[in-house]
Amino acid sequence: MKGRILRALSDAQGYVSGQELCEELQVSRTAVWKVINQLKEEGYVIESVPRKGYRILERPDVVTAEEVESRMQTAWAGRNVRFYAAVDSTNNEASRLAESGAPSGTLVLAEEQSRGKGRRGRTWVTPAGGAVMMSLIVRPELPPPRASMMTLVTGLAVASACREFCGVDARIKWPNDIVIDGRKICGILTEMSTEIDFIKYLVIGAGINTCVEQFPSELAQRAASLHEFMDRKPDRAGLIAACMQKFELFYRLFLERQDLSALRGDYNALLVGIGSPVRVLQPGGEYDGISEGINDAGELLVRRADGRQEAVYAGEVSVRGIYGYT
Ligand code: BTN
Repeated sequence: MKGRILRALSDAQGYVSGQELCEELQVSRTAVWKVINQLKEEGYVIESVPRKGYRILERPDVVTAEEVESRMQTAWAGRNVRFYAAVDSTNNEASRLAESGAPSGTLVLAEEQSRGKGRRGRTWVTPAGGAVMMSLIVRPELPPPRASMMTLVTGLAVASACREFCGVDARIKWPNDIVIDGRKICGILTEMSTEIDFIKYLVIGAGINTCVEQFPSELAQRAASLHEFMDRKPDRAGLIAACMQKFELFYRLFLERQDLSALRGDYNALLVGIGSPVRVLQPGGEYDGISEGINDAGELLVRRADGRQEAVYAGEVSVRGIYGYT
């Protein structure tokens, strides 16, 4: 019931009367009043005006299932939210839930991770309250080799949501880091479970630094937090809802063609370093070239000095700007 009251208050333009809440939820006035008090105790500032009703004036910066669901505008993505105060890794928890049948669109959120995972076996550490840690379960009908493109779809969704919802100049460092002013604010880790020729499920995890006050010294130059670029504290629940809304749209456009042709223009428009020198580091050696953006398969096109164009596949290599991280 708490979730439904929060939803009604969130959707309303102005006040919602106690009577309306009682009728909609088929409960007594006392029951509504109790929930309102509970919400106040949780940090919501709710104004109650006689003969008008209730109105939310301020919300706490929490990512509980009720709060996030009350902000969600999607049809399916992020509609089934599981919140944990602490978990090993939201990606691990999402995999466990997916194994036990959780539907596509299930979103796992945590305030704290004890074993957050980064790409290439690295750890991902963010302080409680200072970040968004989310993992989405999707079950696309897609040949497994195409799954890596989902990471790019998610990168575009997160960058677009940060731009629109937070008003920051978020850009993409191929394949899937989100950066502002050349410093990383978000990383994405996609994991998949497959049978021989089909995907059972994908878990797409994203860690967004929203209010990290201090990074370890080795990261300080390369990492940043959204709040450094905003004049207010980032609203994590709203940002999560904005990410899901973008994701749902881009996912559909991606699945219709099973490639990135519909999203390539938008992706390249946000890509850092396009037209600039990059260094491609791959197991067999390294070479320099000029980044020409992604193709429909999500590979980075790199023009070498002799004029040949290489299509770089994300799994094998890492790409660095010659003059720094981006
Ligand atoms: C990277 O190395 O850039 C990817 C980092 C991904 C971190 C997120 S935080 C939420 C989700 N749970 C995890 O354990 N990892 C991802």
